[in-house]
Parts: sequence; structure tokens; C-alpha cells
Amino acid sequence: MTDRYAVVGYPIEHSQSPMIHRSFACLTGEELSYDLISAKPSSFEGAIKEFAASGGKGLNITLPHKEAAFKLANELGPEAQKAKAVNTLTISSPMNIRGDNTDGIGLLRDLTINHGLSLEEKSVLILGAGGAARGIIPPLMESNIGKIALANRTIEKARNLAEAFSTTNKISVYAFEKLHKIEPYDVVINATSAGIKGEKFEFSSNCINTSTFCYDLSYSSTQTPFSAWAYKNGVKNIADGWGMLIEQAAESFRIWRGIRPDTNTLLKQTPTR
Ligand code: ATR
Repeated sequence: MTDRYAVVGYPIEHSQSPMIHRSFACLTGEELSYDLISAKPSSFEGAIKEFAASGGKGLNITLPHKEAAFKLANELGPEAQKAKAVNTLTISSPMNIRGDNTDGIGLLRDLTINHGLSLEEKSVLILGAGGAARGIIPPLMESNIGKIALANRTIEKARNLAEAFSTTNKISVYAFEKLHKIEPYDVVINATSAGIKGEKFEFSSNCINTSTFCYDLSYSSTQTPFSAWAYKNGVKNIADGWGMLIEQAAESFRIWRGIRPDTNTLLKQTPTR
């Protein structure tokens, strides 16, 4: 029987994961199917259990379920333990479900390999303090960066996240209203959902200069609102999260199938939304 995989989220209709994993399957000659599962938070656990009981082999987990998946897994990989969030479930049996988090590896590979950016000693500012920010803080902090800061509309959420993740490298925290007071950062990562939902996207441009690398965790077939803001303010190096999506998927595929697909063909494509 063909091994079955899927991505679970809400909303999920526009997910590019089926296209990406089917391409990986073709490239590697692996025989598998990959579908979409739409599950509201109230039906998330039931959907996972049903998929596992019917013989499904693995799931990608996307918004808003990454923390619920962390709680549901019986065993956790080190990255998932650090982030307290899971984007990849591997099902050995309905009673044995392992959780991993490949978002960090996806981001680091995209930044350092695909975009050739060295993170060493760099100052990194993350805009946003939700689930997306949570997943990328631990891998960034382990990348020999110089300093790291979090800015969020709701300062309390940024403070809580900084407290949870501060180790030897302390995380500074700013409210968005105070961004005009800070100096430009080398790397600014947008982990907010601002703009995607159609709200106005406007931050103080004091946190960037023309040599800042601006990276949006979201992606689009056209310029994202964050990329447009960076461009408008003279930033030359701007990228969106399409590469991260492909690289995190390749890492999930490796965990499931034991083979890492080549990502170059997909990286050259543009997303269909
Ligand atoms: P995700 O899992 O994508 O991070 P989330 O946990 O809902 O989703 O977090 C969304 C992030 O985008 C939060 O940092 C949120 O700010 P608040 O913590 O203040 O809610 C941020 N965000 C969403 N809409 C925003 C807007 N219009 N302006 C600024 N920040 C916004």
C-alpha cells in the first residue's frame, strides 16, 4: 500500500505542501501520497488520531496547531523540545507518534546556503512574538549571532518569549512604538501576521538601513507587505519565506523517508499564491 502523508492546518486550502512533497517524491522515486487535512483547533486531536489509526505515516503541522502537536507527540526531537512546537509528526503506530521541528533548519539553510548570508556576530531583530517567532529563536541563538531582539505589538508576549528562551545570549525586548529609538539591525525577520490579513503594515524604519537583510517568514507570488516596506525604505537584500518552506519540507521528507531531496528545482519556481 502507498504510504500516506498530509498537512494539517486551519485554514489549509492554499497550502503549497502537497505540491512540494509530491515533487520531492517524483525527484527521489519514493512512492507516497500527500493530502490536505483541514482541522479546526477543536478537532485537531481527533483528526490526528483518525489519520494514525487508518495507517497514515506522517503529518506536517501548520498554523494554528504547532503547539498542540507538541503536546500530543509521545516522543520529541531536540529541536521540537527547544521550540515547544512541532511541525512534523512521524507515526510508527497510533500509540507511537514522534514530533520534530524542521522550521529552524529550514530557515537557517535558506538564509545561509540559498542566500549566502553569514549570521556570525550579526545583530538580529525579530518582529512578532507568536508561534512563528517561537520556532526560529532557538536555531538563531545557536548560530553564533552577536545579539538578538524581539519586538511585538503586545509587549507582554515578547517579554514572555524572551524569558523562555534567554540563555547565555540575552534577548532584548521592544514594543513596536519604541522601534524608532533603536539602531539598525543587520538582519530583520518578520514573524508577524501583519499585512497578510490586509491590515496596514508600517513600522519605524530606524531598525533597518540599506545594508540590512530583511527576511519575511511569509511568502507570496507577489511582493509581501513586509518586503514592500523594506524596499520602500531602501533595503537591497530582501527575501521571503518560500525558500524556508521548501527547506523545512525537505527536512521533514528526510525524517520520513531517510533521503533528502534536492531543493534547487523548487527554489527556482515561484509560489502560486
Ligand atoms: P503565528 O503563529 O503566525 O506567529 P500568532 O501566534 O497569532 O501567529 O502571532 C501573530 C503575530 O503577529 C503576533 O506577534 C501578533 O502580535 P500580537 O502578539 O500583538 O497579537 C502579530 N500581529 C498580527 N497582526 C498584527 C498587526 N496588525 N500589527 C502588528 N503585529 C501584528
